[in-house]
Order: sequence, then structure tokens, then C-alpha cells
Amino acid sequence: MKDFLIAPSILSADFARLGEDVAKVLAAGADVVHFDVMDNHFVPNLTFGAPVCQALRDYGITAPIDVHLMVKPVDRIIPDFAKAGATMITVHVEATDHLDRTLQLIKECGCQAGVVFNPATPLHHLDYVMDKIDMILLMSVNPGFGGQSFIPSTLDKLREVRKRIDESGRAIRLEIDGGVKADNIREIAEAGADMFVAGSAIFSQPDYKVEIDKMRAELAK
Ligand code: DX5
Ligand code: ZN
Repeated sequence: MKDFLIAPSILSADFARLGEDVAKVLAAGADVVHFDVMDNHFVPNLTFGAPVCQALRDYGITAPIDVHLMVKPVDRIIPDFAKAGATMITVHVEATDHLDRTLQLIKECGCQAGVVFNPATPLHHLDYVMDKIDMILLMSVNPGFGGQSFIPSTLDKLREVRKRIDESGRAIRLEIDGGVKADNIREIAEAGADMFVAGSAIFSQPDYKVEIDKMRAELAK
């Protein structure tokens, strides 16, 4: 099977018992922890910052932490997340005036770097950064909230990005975020994604393993 990563979004986890819940979802077979940082400015919601990432590391979480920054301005918070144990850091193109500089900063901090596209953000922002990124994240909902429905036009966008990645010959991950469930994950994978964020679909279930296994079974088809 292709190398697919499942990344539960802890936006839908139990905040009162975050360490425990994250350990539980990893034990259920998740690969990566997706960490949604919202500032009530770039997006209309407020979540958590670098100390919470550090707290997960201190609790003993060793899995990769994928920090999705929905924060503007974004640069000054990047070193904080790198120090707090982030593995990957992704930034929205609209959150920085100097995308190249921001990506360089993430790399200098020792993290994998990625660019995030909102559903209506055009892909030309990739033109001069393909050699500086480890991942591309396509939003399949408008950012800010979990539990929204997958926007179907994202499938065409995924196909376009997959083509660009393949043509570049680089090992760039293609991550999809928003409205991913067991019943659409296969179609999303066929369009080119290889890293799947899922929040509500996993955390709303009593047994996370049942849902993650269902997703993997769809991906194996
Ligand atoms: C939305 C976040 C997503 C969100 C996904 O702004 O970036 O990671 O939590 O949640 P679901 O899977 O419920 O759409
Ligand atoms: Zn996210």
C-alpha cells in the first residue's frame, strides 16, 4: 500500500484531558498529531499555543506533531513552536507578506515546512517555493471550525497539485484538511492526497480504532 498518513485534528479532542486523548488516538493507530492553532484574527476562532504543544511533549507524546498555524502575523510564533516540539509547521500564504522568508525561518528552526491553501486561494503561490517545502496542505473547508462538509471542488485542486508534485520529482507530502471521513477518504486519495487530517470523524466516535481502521481499509482498496 502507498504510504498514507492519518493525522487526527485535536481540535475535536477532549481539551480537559488532552494528553490522555492524544495518547488514546495514537494507540488507536494514528500516525501524526494535527495541531490547529487559531488566533481569532486570521480565522474566527481561538484555540491553543506553543505551551500546549510543549505540554503534550512533556506528557510523553513522541509522535510527529503537525502544527497548522492559522495565525497572522505568523513569523514571530514559529520559533516558539519549534522549541515546543513541533515536527512540521504549515503556514497560510495569506498569513505572511514574505512567504519565502517564512519558509526559510521554519527550516532554520529545524522543522519541516509547508504551505496551506484555503479553498479559494490560487495555486500560483507554489511557483517559486517548490524547492523549499516538505508539504502542501489544501484546505477542503474554510478554516476556523471542525465538523464542516468537504468542499467538492477541492478534488480538482488536489489533482492539480499532485501533478505539480510529481512533475517536480520532489518528495512533497500532499495533506488534505477538512471534512475527511471514511466514506470520502478513498476518493480524496485517488485525487492525490497522501496525508489526511480528520477531526470530528475520529473524535466523535466511542472507539477511535474502529474509525481509523475503516479509513485504512478504504485506503487499501
Ligand atoms: C479547520 C481545521 C481542521 C479541522 C478539521 O480550520 O484546520 O483541522 O479541525 O476538522 P474536521 O475533520 O472535523 O473537518
Ligand atoms: Zn488543520
